[in-house]
Amino acid sequence: LIHLLSIEGLPRAVVEQILDTAGSFLSVNDREVKKVPLLRGKSVFNLFFENSTRTRTTFEIAAKRLSADVINLDIARSSTAKGETLLDTVANLSAMHADMFVVRHSESGAPHLIAQHCAPHVHVVNAGDGRHAHPTQGLLDMYTIRHFKKDFRNLTVAIVGDIVHSRVARSDIHALNILGVPEIRAVGPKTLVPGDLRDMGVRVCHDMAEGVKDADVIIMLRLQNERMNGGMLPSSGEFFKHFGLTPDKLALAKPDAIVMHPGPINRGVEIASEVADGKSSVILPQVTFGIAVRMAVMAILAGNEA
Ligand code: CP
Repeated sequence: LIHLLSIEGLPRAVVEQILDTAGSFLSVNDREVKKVPLLRGKSVFNLFFENSTRTRTTFEIAAKRLSADVINLDIARSSTAKGETLLDTVANLSAMHADMFVVRHSESGAPHLIAQHCAPHVHVVNAGDGRHAHPTQGLLDMYTIRHFKKDFRNLTVAIVGDIVHSRVARSDIHALNILGVPEIRAVGPKTLVPGDLRDMGVRVCHDMAEGVKDADVIIMLRLQNERMNGGMLPSSGEFFKHFGLTPDKLALAKPDAIVMHPGPINRGVEIASEVADGKSSVILPQVTFGIAVRMAVMAILAGNEA
């Protein structure tokens, strides 16, 4: 693996290697991540052309725990604002001896473009591109499911909300298929859950009760208003009434179901506070696991498996 641009097409063994390597970075209580010297002397450049709280920060923590030097390019103050192209920016950062680029961009395919043009020794990690892919989120979601459910066989996983605009949903669906999850449901209104998801082996549900019934895992997604063009946008009150995860809707899932969300959450839009803060929620453990999973990805790309 030279770059991580998408989960689609990854062999199951590679996905499992990433999850196992992440596990090796976590201590017994699955909270502490110890510092290791695997990327000492390497420079990791965080290039976030789109907003981020969790992904950017956990990539920085992960790179520092691997002993790399981390450079966070401040895009708003960079020469991008003066018209410099993406590839010229990357060429200049490469001249500063970058070893790895972690890239988030609103344009689907931007990390692929960088990977095609960067020097052969440089690794590119997709940190979310448009509505295409968010592979490290998909991997940390799989780590979370494995942690709480132990096994992917016999699971029913419901992904609920704005799936059409969601790079997380696409990465999760690819990963769940690779790991052999038998029932993957995409749940939401017709405008946000396209029928062609069935081609990915997904059961499409436009009714929330049907979608979450007997689920082991519920992954909630926010309305991605920034990727909607006017007409598709449901009112948040209307959306919450039909597809918001409330305690009564959660009660339809298995009693030990876990509730996940990639964040940022919009309380009262796709998820009720009682659920987000309740005992079934594993939303914050997802964030913690993200550090170890991103460490694993960077260590494996750099050829330094734990
Ligand atoms: N889940 C996720 O990608 O969150 P951020 O946009 O805050 O990085």
